Amino acid sequence: MAEKRQFQAIKGVRDILPPESALWNRVEQTAREVFGTFGFSEIRLPIFEQTELFARSVGQETDIVSKEMYTFVDRSLDVPPDPKIGEFPGYVQAIERLMESGSIPNDETNRGTLKFVKDWVQELFPFGEKTVEEYAEKLLHLSYAINDFQLGDRVSMRPEATASVVRAYIQHGMQTLPGNVKLYYMGPMFRRERPQKGRYRQFYQIGAEALGPSDAPGIDAEVIEMLLAFFERLKLKGAVLHINSIGDKNCRPAYVERLRAELQVVREQLGADSQRRIETNPLRVLDSKLEHEQGIIEKLPRIADHLCAECRAHYDEVKRQLGLRGITYQKNWRLVRGLDYYMRTTFEITAPGLGSQNAVCGGGRYDGLVELLGGPATTKGIGFAIGTDRLVLSLQESGAGEVAGGPARPAGGLDVYLAWFGAAAQPAAVGLARRLRDAGFVVELPAVEMKFGKSLGLADRLKARHAVILGEDELAAGVVAVKRLADGTQQKLAESELFSYLRAAPAASD
Ligand code: HAM
Repeated sequence: MAEKRQFQAIKGVRDILPPESALWNRVEQTAREVFGTFGFSEIRLPIFEQTELFARSVGQETDIVSKEMYTFVDRSLDVPPDPKIGEFPGYVQAIERLMESGSIPNDETNRGTLKFVKDWVQELFPFGEKTVEEYAEKLLHLSYAINDFQLGDRVSMRPEATASVVRAYIQHGMQTLPGNVKLYYMGPMFRRERPQKGRYRQFYQIGAEALGPSDAPGIDAEVIEMLLAFFERLKLKGAVLHINSIGDKNCRPAYVERLRAELQVVREQLGADSQRRIETNPLRVLDSKLEHEQGIIEKLPRIADHLCAECRAHYDEVKRQLGLRGITYQKNWRLVRGLDYYMRTTFEITAPGLGSQNAVCGGGRYDGLVELLGGPATTKGIGFAIGTDRLVLSLQESGAGEVAGGPARPAGGLDVYLAWFGAAAQPAAVGLARRLRDAGFVVELPAVEMKFGKSLGLADRLKARHAVILGEDELAAGVVAVKRLADGTQQKLAESELFSYLRAAPAASD
């Protein structure tokens, strides 16, 4: 037998166990109900997609794409197994054919590798009079080079889902559907981040996207209204909505240049990350949490003062639309978000109890993304994603986990522990358990016969509300004995009486 070995979940990923999983279900179910009333339907998306989809959408230079994605080569099934030395020439020919047929990427890197490898194969093969030993070093180089072939598409575990929604929207021609296409999704996302409270490598999002020809500010406000209605239904306390407008392709470039110029002036006072971002993405400097940069950032030019007339009007109308819905918000000019596809409206919601990772939700408008991914330029988009892990944490910390998300039946909250004694009682117990479960009661049925004391002891430890006892005597008399475990009261009832007795008892969660 192989040596025994225990395993732990990988760093930054975790199991969600009962009873907490019941709260997750309640949260997700509430999202389905609330989003449904706003006309959103569920889309189920793949967990992995072509890396290029995320690189184009989220942005090559963003932290998410440049360092946090889990990426691998999805090796084509047509590729022959790794070759032994003597098989190199045949293997290289096979790779060339697969590149020509498009089974593996026919890109610059693979073409470069192919050229190099073919030259070497020609030089080294056939071996002729020389021995393998004489070629050893060259063959080693050749085997490394052969390893450089990218033998399939590069794919990534999704770090977010907006890119996938847009890909699906275009792929399925959803622009022909009437009105705005409103979709929501929920599921795991993957980012290689440094794990801490509220930050995981596999985390969960509940997100929603509205795509369509209109970019009316009323849509922005309604999406935010839906989000807040959801939080309210869950009784999430202390949520604060932060909003901003980051302009569009007409006004943002000029602002970014201005910001860059100002940042150059104070360059020496900034940390290494911010210094690098002056070149790569100056807007992200505004995101900095470094204590000593805060005073400097406060003095930088603000985008609100540099919006073009259209963006300003859009932002003003978003605020008015929020107002007419009675939604309070904080304007936050530093809210630029860490993904490249945003334009105009951006927003985040913070919630208490989360420490430094206090954004429970982020979102915004991404009007150019559909076009960037090859769809119609007329399709605009806006959406958000809630970090489910953080939402659950915040609900738990504020005690709302019990009120809003508490499972209808807490784990271990059994209605009936069905203790049977004697082989003849088992078939009757199996039948009774089925009828009780059909009627909606939570039933635990011992799989093997147990001693009376042990069985009832287990009923106690499982916190069952009732032990229903079925022995050969009860069977003969056509009754069961029911013991209420809270106070030990016991009585004999016929099956029909048992159901009404249990129904009259308070629910397990009361
Ligand atoms: P995001 O701000 O990157 O936006 O993520 C949204 C939320 O996911 C965050 O506010 C946070 O609650 C949660 N989150 C992100 N990373 C982690 C992590 N490592 N661990 C735990 N929770 C995390 C997006 O993903 C956009 N796709 C949102 C969007 C949809 N914008 C438009 N439509």
